[in-house]
Amino acid sequence: MIDLDANATTQLLPEVLDAMLPWLREGYANPSGAYAAAKTARKAIEQARGQVAELIGAELEEIVFTGGGTESVNTALRSLDALAGPGAAYVSAIEHSAVLRCVENLPRQTQLSTVNAGGRLDIDAFSSRLEDAAFISIMMANNETGIIQPLREATEIAHARGLPVHSDAIQAVGKIPVNVREIQIDLLSISAHKFHGPKGMGALYIRRGLKFKPLLWGGDQESGRRSGTENTAGIVGMGAAAVCAMRHLAHPPQTPMSAMRDAFETGILAELSGVTVNGDRTHRLPNTSHLSFDGCDAAGLLILLDESSIACSAGSACMTGKQRPSHVQLAMGIPEQRAKSSLRISFSQLNSMEDALNAVQSVKKAVEKLRTVQGPGVGPVVVYSP
Ligand SMILES: Cc1ncc(COP(=O)(O)O)c(C=O)c1O
Repeated sequence: MIDLDANATTQLLPEVLDAMLPWLREGYANPSGAYAAAKTARKAIEQARGQVAELIGAELEEIVFTGGGTESVNTALRSLDALAGPGAAYVSAIEHSAVLRCVENLPRQTQLSTVNAGGRLDIDAFSSRLEDAAFISIMMANNETGIIQPLREATEIAHARGLPVHSDAIQAVGKIPVNVREIQIDLLSISAHKFHGPKGMGALYIRRGLKFKPLLWGGDQESGRRSGTENTAGIVGMGAAAVCAMRHLAHPPQTPMSAMRDAFETGILAELSGVTVNGDRTHRLPNTSHLSFDGCDAAGLLILLDESSIACSAGSACMTGKQRPSHVQLAMGIPEQRAKSSLRISFSQLNSMEDALNAVQSVKKAVEKLRTVQGPGVGPVVVYSP
């Protein structure tokens, strides 16, 4: 299989798995124990905390380990909700469902901030509605389009009004340099499996001095900020993945992900007509391509690509059976029909240029086949892309 679905998840790097295995075998002691084996596990956790902190330019004590990105996001937003004054939860219209569904379920209004046709937050519109807001959540990069958001600008504007800001940086961390001090963010969510770490492992950055209310109560692990016996292997794996990500960012390989992505797009645009590259092409994750194919439906393309052993996602985040085009594409003003014809191709550092060039041929074949059988009409999209 050629895996071009890195924004959905990534494979564990061998060194990450190697780092984890001892903690699943003999290193199983509860890190809260008072004996030597427990203290060894505690030490490994604190080392991993330092590694994750370094990845995002944070201090050790500003990192809380969680059970994944969704938990980090929910913890951050519920804490903001509990501690903020009256007003709306103000989030961008293109947030991941982890943010949107969480704020919908808070006992306060949700206010959505619009994006432009390039898929970036409209800063003027954002600024003009701050008076009704109690707190802000803006993602760093979008999971469907890969478009990087003007987070620093948004944070500055929000802070000028005394509003705290959370960022879902789950798609950005590991792919581009992220520094919490530079963006002056208050809370930031990370997920290990998006950068070759284990699934079900996340972290939440909580700026030193920020008032915080835990989501999970119990044994007061993580300095009382996230109760529950620590997942030592997962935490160590996340730390190891952070080290690999820092190395990758500091010393990009000869063929970086951006070269594969660009070769893929150039190939597709040369081989096929009726293709649109969606979103801002300058503010984009280096690994993501979001394309629409006239006269095709994404569900059909996915089936044909699966037959060619290519794994990727429909560009539309549609729930099975509901046949809704993605809220992200609709927010960008992409017409419904085009939205339903989109694919998201996302590379990881484990891909090669050969994968990109093979994908061009497979996508070309699939699009041409579908166009001959499907004609100009676009059928329903029934595939969910996380
Ligand atoms: C932008 C974004 N936020 C949140 C999540 C949820 O993260 P996790 O799968 O670790 O719960 C994802 C995962 O798809 C994502 O892409």
